[in-house]
Amino acid sequence: MSIFLCFLFLFPLFLIIFKKISPSKMKLPPGPTGLPIIGNLHQFGRLLHSSLHKLSLEHGPVMLLRFGVVPVVVISSKEAAKEVLKTHDLETCTRPKMVTTGLFSYNFKDIGFTQYGEDWREMKKLVGLELFSPKKQKSFRYIREEESDLLVKKISKSTQTQTQVDLGKALFSFTAGILFRLAFGQNFRECDFIDMERVEELVTETETNVGTLAFTDFFPTGLGWLIDRLSGQRSRMNKVFSKLTNLFQHVIDDHLKTEQHRDHSDLISAMLDMINKPTNIGTFKITSDHLKGVMSNVFLAGVNAGVITMIWTMTELIRHPRVMKKLQEEIRATLGSNKERITEEDLQKVEYLKMVIEETFRLHPPAPILLPRLTMSDIKIQGYNIPKNTMIEINIYTIGRDPKCWTNPDEFMPERFFNTSINYKGQHFELLPFGAGRRSCPGMALGITILELGLLNLLYFFNWSLPDGMTIADIDMEEVGALNIAKKIPLELVPTLPSSFVNKKY
Ligand code: HEM
Ligand SMILES: *[C@@H]1O[C@H](CO)[C@@H](O)[C@H](O)[C@H]1NC(C)=O
Ligand SMILES: *[C@@H]1O[C@H](CO)[C@@H](O)[C@H](O)[C@H]1NC(C)=O
Repeated sequence: MSIFLCFLFLFPLFLIIFKKISPSKMKLPPGPTGLPIIGNLHQFGRLLHSSLHKLSLEHGPVMLLRFGVVPVVVISSKEAAKEVLKTHDLETCTRPKMVTTGLFSYNFKDIGFTQYGEDWREMKKLVGLELFSPKKQKSFRYIREEESDLLVKKISKSTQTQTQVDLGKALFSFTAGILFRLAFGQNFRECDFIDMERVEELVTETETNVGTLAFTDFFPTGLGWLIDRLSGQRSRMNKVFSKLTNLFQHVIDDHLKTEQHRDHSDLISAMLDMINKPTNIGTFKITSDHLKGVMSNVFLAGVNAGVITMIWTMTELIRHPRVMKKLQEEIRATLGSNKERITEEDLQKVEYLKMVIEETFRLHPPAPILLPRLTMSDIKIQGYNIPKNTMIEINIYTIGRDPKCWTNPDEFMPERFFNTSINYKGQHFELLPFGAGRRSCPGMALGITILELGLLNLLYFFNWSLPDGMTIADIDMEEVGALNIAKKIPLELVPTLPSSFVNKKY
């Protein structure tokens, strides 16, 4: 509302300083005509991916828009996405510099928002070695198993009292528990400076702030800055940022106090060990900003996407009892009915669960618009010229529902992945939940392990039903979010023990 008032107030100003940008003779992509200064911003609703989805149905899969005065090309087809992410990956693999991303990446010292170059390459290498490598993953296995046990125990309590579980809360605690112990060596459950509830709030606040378009980035110098000030956007952002930095500093200080310091037992200690050590890799030097930048990425990119995917999966399963029944029968037949604990070997055996997850990714990609890219030279996509320094947004939500790629695209039908080679790993451009190319998600393997483990625990040990008086038709599918798009209304379900397990200790 306050932003709208700013607009009203400043509109005459817009008109005065507006200069008509002469239309180029080049063959640019088509798109909706925008207004002076604000471009197409007035055509966007609460959810950017939905707005872009609707516009692309009208204007095509390669569409030129303006966010304020900044040109943005929106990609909405498999073929065009392939041209950007594969053919022209190298020319488009940098990120635009924006106010919010600059702040939350500690001045572009992270992986996700940093421009293409040596910092990005070295940071990615480092995290690949210290967090994502198969060796690290093996050594962290006990953490994932402990967190699985905790999840199952917590839900078992609700089966005794027949009360509903807020799955978002339970799964956030599970996922964040794993990731923060892995990366930060910190169990926020047993920690005296913050609790899980506040961590969850902070993740959401951070994400909202990073995902909200700041006017400074899209309006002429000074004007956008003024709007961000007046609307309070700037001060909200600074407040969240200082909370985040405080938390990170606490975690770092904790490491410095103990023997965890420099033993490479987690990402923080490995990086602390490298700070101040001379390196022989060119001009690159790790600083405490790099450390916080990476923490910021894990915090932002690591947790929510997984939680959101698990929630959407459970939502679709409860809406489709046939699929739920088939899935649980398959899981229990494959794994037997007397397991004490799900192990990571079990994840390899449950084929139908993988299809269910793929189908969930198709309909509900947690990041429906991949992180923005920026062209580093003039390129041609689907015959259209795209000049250097154009922002590129890839709308994988639209691609996942494209009737040219999928039969009955709006139907939840995991069987469509039976007998296909299509997977989510970045070689099949109709399904890109993790992106593709140089900028694709480096946390894919870990993210998948966590979400398969979480779901398998929920589905093996419990049966799920809607709270009393609620029917499938009452399940709300509304979306909410900025960078990551989640289910708006929390999913609350009632767990029961499947008959075969009733006599077990759980
Ligand atoms: C289900 C889980 C996950 C999903 C669906 C997901 C999805 C994505 C997507 C869509 C991108 C942007 C790709 C692009 O712009 O082309 C991305 C980037 C990234 N993700 Fe993930 N992610 C997940 C888990 C994780 C985890 C667990 C971590 C780390 C702890 C992580 C760290 C990152 C980082 C650092 C980037 C930036 C890569 C770059 O710009 O070079 N992600 N992720
Ligand atoms: C639990 O679910 C399975 C499969 O969905 C079903 O066969 C079984 O009868 C259910 N058990 C109870 C106690 O509801
Ligand atoms: C699966 O693929 C094989 C070989 O491509 C084919 O022979 C078979 O009929 C397919 N099965 C189904 C159910 O589509």
